Amino acid sequence: MSGYLLEMKGIAKRFDGVPALDGIDLAIRPGECIGLCGENGAGKSTLMKVLSAVYPHGTWDGEILLDGQPLRAQSIRDTEDAGIIIIHQELMLVPELTVAENIFLGNEPTLPGGRLNYPAMNRRAEEILRELKLPDVNVVLPVKNYGGGHQQLIEIGKALNKKARLLILDEPSASLTAAEIEVLLEIIRDLKAKGVACVYISHKLEEVAAICDTIVVIRDGKHIATTPMQQMNVDRIIAQMCGREMNQLYPTLPHEIGEVVMEARHITCWDPDQPLRKKVDDVSFQLRRGEILGIAGLVGAGRTELVTAIYGAYEGAYEGEVWLEGQRVNTSTPLKSIDAGFALVPEDRKHHGIVRDLSVGENITLSVLERYSRLSRIDGNLEAREIGEQIKRLALKTASPGLPITALSGGNQQKAVLAKMLLTGPKVLILDEPTRGVDVGAKFEIYKLMLELAAQGISIIMVSSELAEVLGVSDRVLVMGEGKLRGDFVNQGLTQEMVLAAAIGQGNNHG
Ligand SMILES: Nc1ncnc2c1ncn2[C@@H]1O[C@H](COP(=O)(O)OP(=O)(O)OP(=O)(O)O)[C@@H](O)[C@H]1O
Ligand SMILES: [Mg+2]
Repeated sequence: MSGYLLEMKGIAKRFDGVPALDGIDLAIRPGECIGLCGENGAGKSTLMKVLSAVYPHGTWDGEILLDGQPLRAQSIRDTEDAGIIIIHQELMLVPELTVAENIFLGNEPTLPGGRLNYPAMNRRAEEILRELKLPDVNVVLPVKNYGGGHQQLIEIGKALNKKARLLILDEPSASLTAAEIEVLLEIIRDLKAKGVACVYISHKLEEVAAICDTIVVIRDGKHIATTPMQQMNVDRIIAQMCGREMNQLYPTLPHEIGEVVMEARHITCWDPDQPLRKKVDDVSFQLRRGEILGIAGLVGAGRTELVTAIYGAYEGAYEGEVWLEGQRVNTSTPLKSIDAGFALVPEDRKHHGIVRDLSVGENITLSVLERYSRLSRIDGNLEAREIGEQIKRLALKTASPGLPITALSGGNQQKAVLAKMLLTGPKVLILDEPTRGVDVGAKFEIYKLMLELAAQGISIIMVSSELAEVLGVSDRVLVMGEGKLRGDFVNQGLTQEMVLAAAIGQGNNHG
């Protein structure tokens, strides 16, 4: 006996002839947590889709052994029966179904006679949510009533409801708060103690270092190294991922900050579900030319609501004024906002950023199509050239611009959304969680791009939950808490502690 729960040997997978995985080996012991690391597009999700039979046996080369026996799974059903449970990078919840229905999707308990046993389902769902420290979630409400972080935990709850011997978590924490991540790591520790093995994928490498026993790094579909975590640290993981040392996480580029360009006055947003509740409460601020303004705050502080209202994309009632270059402008819809000179890269790429049925290139030029019309013809050459430039500028990894956008790795889809908004030539670029799911090297590229845009006189508003990132790239930092503006700091000598103190409503809030 090898002592391995599972072995993948010489796994190779091609998409239309292009290799995505090239001879990868991976072996997992019971109770072991493997950190699977690699840059965007390295092949992490693809490898896990092979393992969980999203890509059935026969659509790739190599072999998988479970308990030393060949596993030739034809579908997710087969791998789930074998105890291999995957939590996908993109959420798979059905928004209209209740929380409990989602948790039991495909596994619903039935009563004699075949009707669904709702009481049993709801009871078990409540238990799972207590484990996930989400006791305030109502299991009989539709999932769509809850925000991104809660949905991600509900997705994890769905996996906990199945009997796992091997749990695969593909970017499970991208939209979780620090406290929620702690709960998740605690649950994984419990599972490990019970002998459940895990594969953990995350671009938040501190998390990987905290929970994993073994680090497997892949690059361009090839295995680079397998190392016990005791011999690793975050910097070494990064070096293996990129094939070089990265001794600087934040680029610097001097940029001049000019006059006030944009002003938001008395923005107030009401909760679409509870019309008396304010999500944003009378927030006003100014933005200067070439300035990078970070907006920090705890989840639920109203940051996304504030920027989507400014951009005319807020789904509930809101009021307030937006001024650009001394004029009041109409930003009541995203199209009017784009006309006025705004662009927004949204937090939720899957629902608001990409159009799933279009190609990479079509997604990139979606907002500026009229630019290529020449007397009712489309100037395909110009369009292709601009797409090519954007792909190069953002180092977007795609085999061809004609590929469906859904074929891109998560981080590269994010770059495509950014490319689309940059093509509109904005004066004010709003980025909501711009580096979610993006690898360290690409993060650096995005920050560099932000600084270059600022140096060209574009003003940037960045909402981010990663305080280190807010402090790493912003010229000024606004802090929100419970819908109100709680701090406005020049980013000089500013610390995470000062920002956090402001976010929870303590401390001296103007620097
Ligand atoms: N359905 C598909 N069709 C064509 N190419 C694909 C498809 N799925 C993945 N690829 C390609 O395979 C490569 C690996 O993608 P994968 O999604 O596994 O990367 P990843 O390591 O998970 O990246 P990320 O960190 O961004 O999530 C990428 O170059 C991607 O474009
Ligand atoms: Mg992935």
